[in-house]
Amino acid sequence: MKLCILHRSGSSFLQDSEKDFHTKWGVVRSKDVKIGKIVSNTGEEFLCCPASQGDLLRNLKRKAQVILPKDAAAIIAETGVHTESKVGDAGSGSGWLACFLGGIVKEVHSYEVREDHKKVVDENISRLGLKNVKTHLQDITQPIKEKGFDLFVLDMPTPWEALETMTAAIKQGGFLVVYLPHITQSLQFVNGLSDSFLHLKTFETLQRAWMVEGKKARPETQQLHTGFISVCRKV
Ligand SMILES: C[S@@+](CC[C@H](N)C(=O)[O-])C[C@H]1O[C@@H](n2cnc3c(N)ncnc32)[C@H](O)[C@@H]1O
Repeated sequence: MKLCILHRSGSSFLQDSEKDFHTKWGVVRSKDVKIGKIVSNTGEEFLCCPASQGDLLRNLKRKAQVILPKDAAAIIAETGVHTESKVGDAGSGSGWLACFLGGIVKEVHSYEVREDHKKVVDENISRLGLKNVKTHLQDITQPIKEKGFDLFVLDMPTPWEALETMTAAIKQGGFLVVYLPHITQSLQFVNGLSDSFLHLKTFETLQRAWMVEGKKARPETQQLHTGFISVCRKV
């Protein structure tokens, strides 16, 4: 059983080895790690508990910029994919989105053009023990064998180059979701859409974290912009 060590700041650490944990709140000795409250060498308290799927996801390896849970959750909410859905994503990057989706839908196919990135994705999938996420070393601008997707998510710099592949792969009425860091890229993508897709909306998710401590409560000073999400439907 993997254990997760949580701090009241929201930071979490997975127990992956027998090594001590070095944190900015002091060192937690591996011999002290057990379920319940534990204390670092500086007297700071942590809570140790069995790692949840969310803890495991937050602590996966990262190679490229990843889709964070707040955006992955928004994609699921907008498209309504569920335990019977077949979903694709490209590029796989570090596999964060593929793994998040793998915990929810029936089948995920994840396509990545770089071998070193695919290796990280495969490691992350096996860390989570997911059996329903299949990776492909493949340029998504070229045709793919798999068809009948309920949802396909593109998170890559030039999604407009993959539109022909998407037209063949997504089923009638299925969703194409595109995630891009800059709104000018979203504009280029939406303006370049073929008649096969109807653009429904483009949005960003803003999660405003608050610092809540003692009698103080105020928004955290650092707020995170991630990316823009365009939702389209295959016509
Ligand atoms: C920002 S990362 C994706 C992160 C991923 N969504 C995650 O949550 O971990 C973009 C990835 O797209 C890959 N990529 C770029 N062009 C591609 C293409 N034509 N076909 C497949 N993958 C591509 C890159 O190698 C990179 O790994």
